[in-house]
Amino acid sequence: MDSFELNKITAAVLIALLAAMIACLLGDAAVDPEKPINNAYVVEVQEDASSSTAANQEKPLEPIGPLLAKADPANGEKVFKKCLACHTISKGEPHKTGPNLWNIVMNHMGHEADFAYSGAIKSKKEQWTYENLNKFLHKPREFAPGTKMTFIGISNDQERADLIAFLRKNADSPVPLP
Ligand code: HEC
Repeated sequence: MDSFELNKITAAVLIALLAAMIACLLGDAAVDPEKPINNAYVVEVQEDASSSTAANQEKPLEPIGPLLAKADPANGEKVFKKCLACHTISKGEPHKTGPNLWNIVMNHMGHEADFAYSGAIKSKKEQWTYENLNKFLHKPREFAPGTKMTFIGISNDQERADLIAFLRKNADSPVPLP
């Protein structure tokens, strides 16, 4: 084998490597692993039926107070991406599949007069206290059986607290922390 042939082989190998790298990069770009926002919630909705086993229903929730005290609303805003498919958060924004959530903390359940709530929410004559939000966002359909909110819930306690801290900030005058 002369050196010219060796060079050709080396070149062929390099080109193959380069092609593989480019294919990889293109693949990543096409999928955009950073933000499949809509899909993120669809997957969770699908998981719902199978994941609500007796085992993860038994553990009582930690009180939200101490978790809220160290909550990070900026992280809560990121968690809220899971809600964006169905909810707006800023004042005066239109409803989507779910109602606009401005001023939600300590508001009464079914707080938007022009939104068609399910009986599950309408029949609850309570307020969205921190504890109620905590339970609802943990397992919407356990807290309000029959709710139209087809969202599995957020199992991580601190993530939920961060999210609630973010909801709290989106109000005319944020309710004091518990
Ligand atoms: C698949 C769509 C969907 C997703 C995702 C979703 N929601 Fe909802 N949400 C709804 C619907 C629909 C309702 C109305 C429920 C009813 O009437 O039973 C609702 C109701 C609510 C309510 C009660 C509002 C009121 O006025 O009483 C709160 C609070 C809420 N959602 C918070 C959230 C948060 C926070 C998230 C993200 C973690 C979220 N939702 C994700 C659809 C969704």
